[in-house]
Amino acid sequence: MSEQPVIAVLVSGSGSNLQAILDASLRGEIPCRVGIVISNKPEAYGLERARKHGIPTEVVRHTDFPSREAFDRKLVETIRGSGAALVCLAGFMRVLTPVFVRAFPNRILNIHPALLPSFPGTHGPKQALEYGVRFSGCTVHFLDEGVDSGPIVVQAAVPVYDDDTEESLAARILVQEHRIYPMAIRLFFQGRLKIEGRRVRIEGEPRIPEFFHRNPDA
Ligand code: GAR
Repeated sequence: MSEQPVIAVLVSGSGSNLQAILDASLRGEIPCRVGIVISNKPEAYGLERARKHGIPTEVVRHTDFPSREAFDRKLVETIRGSGAALVCLAGFMRVLTPVFVRAFPNRILNIHPALLPSFPGTHGPKQALEYGVRFSGCTVHFLDEGVDSGPIVVQAAVPVYDDDTEESLAARILVQEHRIYPMAIRLFFQGRLKIEGRRVRIEGEPRIPEFFHRNPDA
């Protein structure tokens, strides 16, 4: 068990994606374990979820640092100390600088609640509703130095209904996030993600039917 690689998960809020990763790990669906959970917000419920699983937590408050770079250096140091082989941003609501991105090249995943490149930033579901798209969804991608612009690993689509609110759409998307984030982590540790420029090729599986949601009303 202890030889399993370790991942660091960064959260700012509820941490439901962290929970999905923890559950997948406990069920043996991903070949790694969560070694540390870090938050920029001491009140983040994600920290509580980690504690319930006996996982070490660390709070690194961005407000304690004079610059984004100084904050990122502290994050890098904390993650390196955990020995993590992969960093998973799971609702971590801070833009990270090249200091962070370059410390873990092709070793940082992020989940975003929209079908990128549409609606990057902090309000994916709201922007999708306001734009009037009929489908939205979620994206797991490698982090690069832009905002939500890195190579895409997995996406899942959900319908947008006329009577949706930001909350109902976000909830429908979240169900799919919980499914595709563990999937992307599994593919990463299986060594099957080959980054070729902007594209990520998934070795051994040219077509993956699970990429599509199974139940639009879930
Ligand atoms: C998720 O919907 C995630 O995609 C989003 O924040 C939520 C966190 O939920 N992230 C972003 O918008 C990043 N730009 P969680 O804390 O319950 O996992």
